Formats: sequence, C-alpha cells, structure tokens
Amino acid sequence: MTAKFITLEGMDGAGKSTHIPNIIKMLGARGVEVISTREPGGTELGEKLRTLLLHENMHPETETLLMFAARREHIAQVILPALARGAYVLSDRFTDATYAYQAGAKGVAANKVVQLEQWVQEGLQPDVTLLFDVPVEVSVARLSNARTPDKFERESAEFFAKIREAYLLRARENPERFKIINANQPLDKVYKAVEAQIAVL
Ligand code: TMP
Repeated sequence: MTAKFITLEGMDGAGKSTHIPNIIKMLGARGVEVISTREPGGTELGEKLRTLLLHENMHPETETLLMFAARREHIAQVILPALARGAYVLSDRFTDATYAYQAGAKGVAANKVVQLEQWVQEGLQPDVTLLFDVPVEVSVARLSNARTPDKFERESAEFFAKIREAYLLRARENPERFKIINANQPLDKVYKAVEAQIAVL
C-alpha cells in the first residue's frame, strides 16, 4: 500500500503553495493516484466555510470550531476515501495550522484543540509534514507585495512571530513527522530541499 498523507504548513508568505505542482509531478511519476487538496476547504461545504473563515470576523473559538467542521467533512469525503484507494493525499495545511494560528497566535486553549483533534481525526495524522519556514520579516515583506490580503494576511508582525514559534514548537514535539524546509533561500534551492524530502517518501 502506497497511501501517504502529506501536509504542507507555514506562515502566510512562506511560499509553500508554489511547490504543489512540482510535488504532484514527482509523486505522479510513480504511477500512483495523487490528490491535491487544501484546508480550510477541500469539499464543497469546506470551501463555503473557507469563505466565511477568511473574510468574517468571529471569536477565535468559533473560528476553531468551523476549521474542525470543515476538516470533519474533508476527512470523511476526501482524505480517508483517497487513502483507502492507496492514493497520495497532499493537503495545503491541516491541523498544525489550527495549533499555530488559533492556539498559538489567537490564544485558544491548546487542550481544546487537542480534544477537537481527537474527536474529529480519531487518530488520523499526516505521515509527513513539510514546514516551510521563513523569518517573520520575510513573510511580512512578501505579503505586503501580494494581492488583496485576506483577514489572516492583514495581521501584524507580532501575530506572525507567534505563528512561527508555534509551528516550530509543533515540529520539535513531532520530530519524526515534521521536515523543516528553509524557504528563505533562492527558489531553486527550496525546490531541491522539497524534492529531497519527497524522494524518500
Ligand atoms: P492559505 O492562504 O494557506 O490557503 O490558508 C488560509 C488561511 O487560513 C491562512 O491564513 C491560515 C488560516 N488557517 C487557520 O488559521 N487555521 C487552520 O486550521 C487552517 C487550516 C488555516
């Protein structure tokens, strides 16, 4: 069985999404089905929740609950069926983002996230998580040049510093699963670092 659940994480502006086509190509070359998906989103209902989450102001716990509502649907409709078929599932963000954004940066109690994670995921965890890491100044500078920012992208450098710290803590707590990619280097070097991680999957 080849089935592998791969997630991509990092602050806004870390550049993770740029690498998705290349990762799909690498995995696809093995002749195995590859599903590329994202959170919040990944299903019709999840994409509707994404629009609400990215543009409406709400209590951080409401945000957490909606992230997990979208995730529940995503797991049931997309992730588990694909893994059962033996596919590679590549998700642009998953639960580590909730630990980083809602718990780390917005102060939701981490034990509440743990409870929701246990309830919704029933033990499901990514096999590997590529964490695209850049210094906060780099992320903020990239975002200031970007398209119209969403609610999250308008946050302050202090907010992003908390996100980075929370992601790095998750990586230290889950060293087997996390692969940290230094995304603060020329794009071809980042590509090579990503390729090296995908090659050993
Ligand atoms: P994206 O721009 O990488 O698609 O992510 C959308 C935004 O949603 C991003 O700013 C991070 C945020 N987010 C959370 O705050 N919590 C979560 O659990 C997830 C999956 C995303």
